[in-house]
Amino acid sequence: MALLLTHIHRLYPVATAHERLKRGADMAHAGCLENAWVQTAGAVITGFGSMASCPVPDADTQVMDCTGRLVLPGFVDSHTHLVFPRTREGEFRDRIQGLTYEEIAARGGGILNSARHCETLSEEALLAAALPRAWAALRTGTTTLEIKSGYALTLEGELKLLRVARRIGELTPLRVRTTFLGAHAIPAAYKADRQAYIDLVCDKMLPAVVAEGLADHIDVFCDRGYFTPEETAYIMRRGAEAGLPAKIHANELAISGGVQVGVQQGAWSVDHLEQMDEAAITALQGTDTIPVILPTVAFFLGIPYAPAREMIRADLPVALATDYNPGSSPGSSMPFVMSLACLRQGLSPEEALIAATLNAARALRMSDQIGAISPGRIADILITHPMDDLAGIPYAYAENPVATVIIGGSVIAA
Ligand code: NIG
Ligand code: FE
Repeated sequence: MALLLTHIHRLYPVATAHERLKRGADMAHAGCLENAWVQTAGAVITGFGSMASCPVPDADTQVMDCTGRLVLPGFVDSHTHLVFPRTREGEFRDRIQGLTYEEIAARGGGILNSARHCETLSEEALLAAALPRAWAALRTGTTTLEIKSGYALTLEGELKLLRVARRIGELTPLRVRTTFLGAHAIPAAYKADRQAYIDLVCDKMLPAVVAEGLADHIDVFCDRGYFTPEETAYIMRRGAEAGLPAKIHANELAISGGVQVGVQQGAWSVDHLEQMDEAAITALQGTDTIPVILPTVAFFLGIPYAPAREMIRADLPVALATDYNPGSSPGSSMPFVMSLACLRQGLSPEEALIAATLNAARALRMSDQIGAISPGRIADILITHPMDDLAGIPYAYAENPVATVIIGGSVIAA
């Protein structure tokens, strides 16, 4: 199967074939080619250019006229909890009455609320709940999706969640990566003996997860009321010994030391970052750890937004993700994440696009294959509805800008 996209109003390649991420001031430049074409063969992008040099399609090539439309790389959502038992509207009611996320968690709500429901659901029931969420993400342009466990906090339950996550990768066209997050919260039964739960995570769950090949990374919720930096360092080290690189939840609720621990232990990314100080920003400078910001969490919980402009000024390669989960971000739309990044964090549309594609792919160490439109990369491509300017995506914040999703060179949703 070959595709030729023609008469593209504006094509945003985002990066060259050799670029793996963009830092700081480089994030202003997403490239932009007017009146352009893109060609694919099989799963791969074979070329692009301006219409003056458009190749003549052969009989096997499907030609798609993109007059008036933008063409972009598919969105990469590198941080989600998309497999969860059910939504938590009751907690939403409590929050709009004035309770905070932490107050609700302290009453046994939050992650522990989801864990109680998870116990009662079969793998099939969890899959049935999660699949429509995955398709909804795809329809708003997500082509690669990371999914974490962490809503069971038992050996069998964590395996169940990760099996469902893997099956989403098999049953949908999405490219799925999975993350073992046994260290999401301390279950009530272990409150008096935290180390016993950490031992369960590291000595029982982790080997079982690895033996079944269920996870690509390990994660820890390093924050006030959850796991300490010392506990996080230990769990990351055990993960690394078992072959799992780390992606860390850090600095959502407090300046927790999570960023520093993540960087010191070589985490692929540190995510959240609503609470940052200069030391945390400095710790990230010149490192390979990607700062992933999650603006819908600040929007939904009414907490401060990550200081993204300061981070870009400090030459960091900022990435965006949804954190899709039932407690702090019940939404899968990467375009809406881009809107908040522009409106509330001062990113330009170009910076938001790079953060949602190339840098997000780097947070999964996949930016050699995806995250940009360049010859040799996988053909994960979006065609928008007719739109003049890239700013039209964050501007029309409640609209789905995506008309057609192409994954691995196949037209999936149109
Ligand atoms: O990323 N911060 C930790 N975990 C999730 C929230 C989980 C939940 O409340 O269900 C997050 O925000
Ligand atoms: Fe999260």
